[in-house]
Amino acid sequence: MDKEFIRELERYIRVRLTEKRYRHTEGVIATAVELAKRYGADEEKTYIAALFHDACKNLDSDEMNMLVEEYGIGEVYIDKPQLAHSKLAAKILEDRFGVTDEDILNAVSFHTTGRENMSLLEKIIFVADAVEPNRTYPEAEELNRLAFQDLDQAGYEIADRSIKRVRNQGMFLDEDTVKARDWFAELLQDNSLENSRNFAVYAANIIDGKKGSDIVVIDVAEKSSFADYLIIATGGTIRQTDAIADYIEERAELQNRFTRRIEGKNGSGWTLMDYGDVIVNLFVPEMREKYDLETIWSDCDRIDWEA
Ligand SMILES: [Fe+2]
Ligand SMILES: [Fe+2]
Repeated sequence: MDKEFIRELERYIRVRLTEKRYRHTEGVIATAVELAKRYGADEEKTYIAALFHDACKNLDSDEMNMLVEEYGIGEVYIDKPQLAHSKLAAKILEDRFGVTDEDILNAVSFHTTGRENMSLLEKIIFVADAVEPNRTYPEAEELNRLAFQDLDQAGYEIADRSIKRVRNQGMFLDEDTVKARDWFAELLQDNSLENSRNFAVYAANIIDGKKGSDIVVIDVAEKSSFADYLIIATGGTIRQTDAIADYIEERAELQNRFTRRIEGKNGSGWTLMDYGDVIVNLFVPEMREKYDLETIWSDCDRIDWEA
């Protein structure tokens, strides 16, 4: 998209937004573009979606209702400017400005409600709209910080907050917002270290970072009654396996993961750390050969912890 096209959009916005709404839009643009840099989204698409997201926000209610009918957006949006303005802006961007990029159109269309299976760009606009620096609700600053640390966590908090606010005010709750919140919750769960596979991968990477070698992660869930994953790794010396064990313990605790027991530290050459669902086995080379756990579990799949 060329510069002149973007200038045209800017002119359109400038004359249609109140001073306050224009400042908000500038805030959304700045925040969204920073988030795009942080998470690797297309910056130009982000700019356009952020610029146009509230293009219809300051239309009067008659005009808004008329456009809702004209574009066939749905009866449900009549007299609901807080929802209709998003849908309309997407329609106008497509219809009057010829934008065909679905991702930009969806980011504009769902900026208020969110929805499930949002793209990165959709998440960025949804979150930036809620946390741009001109927002003054009590948690705004904290959510802005969170957005740059964990976009999904921020998305979850924003959707959840929005649901509570809409319910408190007795307003119409768009079910897309509930779906968005539940979807963000699932994403967070999938990425969480409470998940045994994630934790096994995490621990394998810690061992790798501490120069452990021949790291193998075996999925034993089907075959074992005591754990989901076994990690087997080698340290050059007892001192090294002990250092790796200490480091895993320390890093895991920061993630609220605590060992149930540690066996074999200080001398035996096989340290076993039991995390319940994940068991970490650290060997010195002779001991690894002697106990040969890989052969015992050779009918189980290994997972690609480096992926
Ligand atoms: Fe909006
Ligand atoms: Fe907005």
